[in-house]
Amino acid sequence: MASSPIHFTIGSLPICGDLILAPMDGITDSPYRRLARQFGSAASYTEFINAVDIACKHPTLDERLRFSEEERPLAIQLLDNDPDRMEKAASYVLRFQPDFIDINIGCCARTVSGRGAGAGLLREPQKISQILNKLTPFGIPVTAKIRLGWDENSLNYLEIAKIIEQNGGQLIAVHARTRRQAYTGQADWDAIAQIKQILSIPVIGNGDIKTPEDIEKIKNYTKCDGVMIARGAIGNPWIFSRMDRSQVPGDQVFDTILYHLNLMISFYGNIQGLIRFRKHANAYLQPFSVPAPLRKDLLTCDKYDRFIKILDEISLSNQ
Ligand SMILES: Cc1cc2nc3c(=O)[nH]c(=O)nc-3n(C[C@H](O)[C@H](O)[C@H](O)COP(=O)(O)O)c2cc1C
Repeated sequence: MASSPIHFTIGSLPICGDLILAPMDGITDSPYRRLARQFGSAASYTEFINAVDIACKHPTLDERLRFSEEERPLAIQLLDNDPDRMEKAASYVLRFQPDFIDINIGCCARTVSGRGAGAGLLREPQKISQILNKLTPFGIPVTAKIRLGWDENSLNYLEIAKIIEQNGGQLIAVHARTRRQAYTGQADWDAIAQIKQILSIPVIGNGDIKTPEDIEKIKNYTKCDGVMIARGAIGNPWIFSRMDRSQVPGDQVFDTILYHLNLMISFYGNIQGLIRFRKHANAYLQPFSVPAPLRKDLLTCDKYDRFIKILDEISLSNQ
């Protein structure tokens, strides 16, 4: 793990580095967070954990909450719009001993934001303060990840950012898009710069970071304390070492594929580990030339030995 000076603190929790793997449902599970930390991501966030799933004891809940010590400092990200349910959820997840709790104020999925959770909270700022007031007494730092507003006609990020800080939030990560934009259009880095100007707590910029060049650009442009990377980190943990993906030698890519696959197998077991790894394999292999039938074989394969054989074939043909 790269050693780095303290870049900022979340409450009294030191964060040694300025790049952070963003939470991504279905992607940033424990094995990938561990890998990203080894490549230089300075902290980890779990995928969002729905407080409703905690209330009804969803069967996969504890698997999604499990993490390794190497991932620390780690946030468990909670999602809901009901302050009492959020309080109970926080009380439940504290037994896993996260370093901080993050509130999801950005999920744009219709089923989530439509019922007022995730980005839906942007339309009810008083709920955000109620939730913070339920969570801050637990005694570990509470942070939030926001969007800029519900849509372009209701950009209320400055109000939301202030509410979070005034109610004890210790850091804000800003995905610089509205709920309506989802993942389209360009992230508005001006908004991140404005938030940074009015807050004293750390501000993390997020949106459209794909290369080491983008990292320096957003830092210079917004003066943000750190940079959060989501899609640009899929199949590309090298971004956390500030390495351009196009500069990574092929043999390093294949070594990392095997390493990541083995982390997945250790965590989920042979079959589930391999099946869940296939989407990562697809992302790692994007820059390579892989004949369509071979790619299809790889992405439908559920036998470890066969998977490795296909990977070898792809590796050899790309030397
Ligand atoms: C597949 C996927 C799943 C995501 N899941 C979450 C999540 O669980 N919690 C969250 O706060 N944001 C989630 N996001 C949003 C990202 O964390 C990030 O804010 C967004 O993708 C913008 O960053 P980017 O331009 O670097 O991709 C998700 C994004 C993607 C693409």
